[in-house]
Amino acid sequence: MTTRRRFLRQSVIAATAAIAPRAFSQIIRSQATPVVPTLDPNSLARFVDPLPLPVVVQPQGDRAAPGKPGERVPFYRVSMRAIASKLHRDLPPTKVWSYGDSVPGVMFDTQSGQGLLVEWANELPLNHLLPIDYSVHGAERGTPEVRSVVHLHGGKTPPESAGYPEEWYVPGQSRTYYYPNQQDPALLWYHDHAMGITRLNVYAGLIGLHVIRDQAEQHLQLPNGKYEVPLVLCDRHLNIDGQLSYPHAWMPAVFGEVPLVNGKIFPYLEVEPRKYRFRVLNAANGRTYRLSLPEGVEFRQIGTDQGLLPRPVAVTQVLLAPAERADLVIDFAPHRGTRVLLSDDAFKLMEFRVNATPVPDPSALPAKLRAVPHIAESSAVKTRWLTLNDEPRKGMPASMGMLLNKTPWKMPITEKPVLGTTEIWELANLTEEVQPIHLHAVRFQILDRRRFDASEYMESGKVRYSKEPASPPDPNEMGWKDTVRVNASTVTRIIIPFEGYAGRYVWHCHNLEHTDHEMIRPYEVLASAS
Ligand code: C2O
Ligand code: CU
Repeated sequence: MTTRRRFLRQSVIAATAAIAPRAFSQIIRSQATPVVPTLDPNSLARFVDPLPLPVVVQPQGDRAAPGKPGERVPFYRVSMRAIASKLHRDLPPTKVWSYGDSVPGVMFDTQSGQGLLVEWANELPLNHLLPIDYSVHGAERGTPEVRSVVHLHGGKTPPESAGYPEEWYVPGQSRTYYYPNQQDPALLWYHDHAMGITRLNVYAGLIGLHVIRDQAEQHLQLPNGKYEVPLVLCDRHLNIDGQLSYPHAWMPAVFGEVPLVNGKIFPYLEVEPRKYRFRVLNAANGRTYRLSLPEGVEFRQIGTDQGLLPRPVAVTQVLLAPAERADLVIDFAPHRGTRVLLSDDAFKLMEFRVNATPVPDPSALPAKLRAVPHIAESSAVKTRWLTLNDEPRKGMPASMGMLLNKTPWKMPITEKPVLGTTEIWELANLTEEVQPIHLHAVRFQILDRRRFDASEYMESGKVRYSKEPASPPDPNEMGWKDTVRVNASTVTRIIIPFEGYAGRYVWHCHNLEHTDHEMIRPYEVLASAS
């Protein structure tokens, strides 16, 4: 094992939930900056704040749709600002950055096929809330400290509105993006994507939800209105004064010891004894959640990243890597008058307080949700072998070896699928941890996962698969995805129809520390084969 790999193995071990905070605080203490003690979440009272719900944003009139003479679409304006937010009853307000007046930011509640225009206004201060590491690619000294660009994660978006990481802009400027919404209903989310500081901008709070609905979904009579509740999960490291803390020097893994749900620490939600639909997003920089409920309470997973599954799946645990979403139904009817805890392996997250009085439940949980056509492997015109790397590069500090296909960001574009064709991408993980891989602008299906000998591959280039057969996706992954967990020493195959728009996009690892440094690559959808 190389020194780098040994270092990484240790940092990965240290990064597992319970131990991570200590590793992180040691790093903070090693900086030549004043030491502010860390907030121990166990010192905070549990379940004293009600769960906040994101505010639905309203349009400010309409405007001409780009490239569609005569068509008007709703126009929204959302500003990014520095605000102070109460994360817990007993903490002073925390300085954060937001889209609108809260973290998570305003929520778009939209209809499939109804396009919209959003002016994203950067009204942030000129100095960053968090320490910038100028050695990170794209964040060199001389680059404006505060810059932002918005990406709609999971959006089938024309390239000029997709939030290309280098198309950032500074405070005082804005950009108006067009989201055609020509796609199936799903829980999308938007977040910052500025080159070299994505991890910092998102950690500061630049995240929000974008729901797409349609008639077919409405006809299913799933729990809706106040019985449909978004849950945005993330973790943060706080100082004892309640302020955000983040390492001064780039680290491959940053975990907070404080769990937040919709921007609150340990909130509670009063629920009626009936079915609820929870639309869960993992918006953490690097943490993978494994959600669970007490013995006897069950999740039914009805959807994943890009919308509904073919049918509900009963699950006892829900694994969510950064950027993944789960659409979950919980029936509280059998649990009248009790308290139900939502937990993760590392944390207690929140409490549901189930009212004792029975109520009628007109909502449904149909056995069939929607057809998800299976994409035949034979329809793929091309198969690409793409490695996920963590190896030292010549003449570079050891921490600079996280790459996609061993290719730095600046190298010419190598992945050029043709619009209207389907490809298979074989994602071969040579690192020692799970990498959540995301492609902008498209959706895909998972074909399978198969273990292989990563060390042998790195030494000789030979692919030796393990004897075990390839495993199919989990039942709750059998729908349309936009982010896939690629496990260590595993080849994960995904099949991607390149539908939508020609142009330049990116694909990357959604551990945002990795995104910044620099497990991110451009790809280009070509209008036609040349
Ligand atoms: Cu959440 Cu580049 O994406
Ligand atoms: Cu990664």
